[in-house]
Amino acid sequence: MAESIWILIVCSKFMFILIMVVNSEDVETNNKCTYSANKRILNCVGLENINKNLESFIKPGTQMLFIRDTRNATFHLNHHTHPNYANLVSYQILNSQYFLPNQGAFLGLSNVQYMEIHDNVWQRIEDNAFIGLRNLEVLNLANNHIKKLNTYAFKHLSKLRNLDLSQNSLEVIPSYVFENLSELEALYINNNFVKIVEENAFLGLPQLSMLFLTNNSLEYINADDFNKLKYLDHLHINFNKIKTINGQFNLPKLKFLQISNNKLRHLENNVFEQCSNLLSIDLSRNNLKSLSEEPFLKLDSLRHLNLYNNYVDLSKFLLLRENTAIIHN
Ligand SMILES: *[C@@H]1O[C@H](CO)[C@@H](O)[C@H](O)[C@H]1NC(C)=O
Ligand SMILES: *[C@@H]1O[C@H](CO)[C@@H](O)[C@H](O)[C@H]1NC(C)=O
Ligand SMILES: *[C@@H]1O[C@H](CO)[C@@H](O)[C@H](O)[C@H]1NC(C)=O
Repeated sequence: MAESIWILIVCSKFMFILIMVVNSEDVETNNKCTYSANKRILNCVGLENINKNLESFIKPGTQMLFIRDTRNATFHLNHHTHPNYANLVSYQILNSQYFLPNQGAFLGLSNVQYMEIHDNVWQRIEDNAFIGLRNLEVLNLANNHIKKLNTYAFKHLSKLRNLDLSQNSLEVIPSYVFENLSELEALYINNNFVKIVEENAFLGLPQLSMLFLTNNSLEYINADDFNKLKYLDHLHINFNKIKTINGQFNLPKLKFLQISNNKLRHLENNVFEQCSNLLSIDLSRNNLKSLSEEPFLKLDSLRHLNLYNNYVDLSKFLLLRENTAIIHN
């Protein structure tokens, strides 16, 4: 017993010394917030109320702010307009029990380029929620229990390149919700419960090259909903419940199409005809019956076709095999 206490004292002394050595110049704490790297980084854990404690700790040189495990993270209008926030480049708000940014809460953060808000409880993104973040390039909103996006949720994010909404509880992608995200290149909506993609939901994304809708509850696809995405090269709609694809995809840059693990029974012969750059199509684990090679014959770039776990008779695939590797069972 005495021995283990002695070891404990030695250990904690050692850790204390270690911390002193690593950060001897700039550690200051109020038990909840810690600086490092010459106050360029401020890390706050377990704040009771975000509005009381923070402003006195952020410094003019602070570039990265981490806020974790806050009980109530309610941000009011102009919460970040104090000039000491103006140099923040990276901002992470993680694991709050209650998170609510009121309209205008992020005004003043005009230099933030990277923002992560995840593992919080935040049910609904209100209109104009991100106003003020005019240089934001990456926004990670994964795993916040978000159920609803308002139409103007992402207004004013004109520099955004990467938006991650995965692992939330979204059921509907509203019309026009991503409109004006003219620099967006990658959009992650995987691992939600999306059943309805409203008309024009993906309108106004001229640079989008990757769209991930894996693991949702889609029962059908209207090809036209995607056809405005002229730069799309990856489309992932696998692990849904898709029974039918209505219309014809017209995605001239599309290279990788992932539709495995759905309930497709049939494909129209012209469904991929206008996707002349398709390199790889994964249709494995569907219910395709009496499929012919017709839907693939005009795809000169096609090199990989996965038909594993369907009911397809490969003896009918004669022409396609010359250039395309076909996986089947
Ligand atoms: C969180 O704090 C705000 C005030 O900052 C208050 O209005 C609200 O009721 C609090 N919510 C919870 C769930 O404690
Ligand atoms: C996109 O921009 C136009 C022109 O400024 C504006 O009228 C429209 O409301 C914006 N849409 C969204 C969803 O922010
Ligand atoms: C699919 O998404 C649900 C909801 O986010 C999640 O609970 C589940 O683990 C996901 N499944 C896979 C295979 O990722």
